[in-house]
Amino acid sequence: MKNFEIIQHPIIKREVSILRDKKTSNNIFRVSLKRLSIFMAYEVAKKFQLKKFQIETPITKTLGFDLKENIILVPVLRAGLGMVDGFLEVFPNAKVGHIGLSRNEKTLEPIDYYFKVPKQIDKSIVILLDPMLATGGSANAALNFLKKNGAKKIIYVCLFASPFGIKKILTLQNDIKIFTASKDLKLNKSGYIIPGLGDAGDRIFGTDD
Ligand code: PRP
Ligand code: URA
Repeated sequence: MKNFEIIQHPIIKREVSILRDKKTSNNIFRVSLKRLSIFMAYEVAKKFQLKKFQIETPITKTLGFDLKENIILVPVLRAGLGMVDGFLEVFPNAKVGHIGLSRNEKTLEPIDYYFKVPKQIDKSIVILLDPMLATGGSANAALNFLKKNGAKKIIYVCLFASPFGIKKILTLQNDIKIFTASKDLKLNKSGYIIPGLGDAGDRIFGTDD
């Protein structure tokens, strides 16, 4: 599938396992999520183009490199927030937008409550961040928002993806590339990813008691 990639790496598999484990505390969950996000950002950046410029070392002139295009990170609230710091380690000059979406627990439809993105969205690479791709309703709504507001180059980075959600986004958003750390087995009746990690927002922010 040209628009779908599972990042395969021993360190990524280790972090995925820490996040899945129900014994992982909120504290360690946040730390592991950040670490996993750094590795995902590093892998995603392999596809980016460079621009060259002249620099001077203490000894001589040589060529320097930087990313050719500006980066905008857009986490989906709340759980996407847990990925932002890791991505900023790799893309320190990135600007950050936010999309607020919350799933209705019965219908599983996303309800939107916040949207703010930087002005240069049409001239930047936009990286949508949300650890969980379950039914795909939230990702689809977020991608539609970004496109409506002018985003032209969008990459979607999740961490745990269900086959149902992957198929939905690849069908409805066929110009978007999805990167994930894991393709999981299925969804349960409540729309949770199996095996997954439970409710990502609750596990980051400690609202799971
Ligand atoms: C979670 C998750 C995604 C969404 C995925 O958010 O962070 O945004 O569910 O599910 P979907 O693919 O079926 O749309 P949630 O709505 O639980 O909000 P929260 O992060 O504020 O807890
Ligand atoms: N949202 C989550 O946080 N977890 C799931 O498994 C599905 C949606």
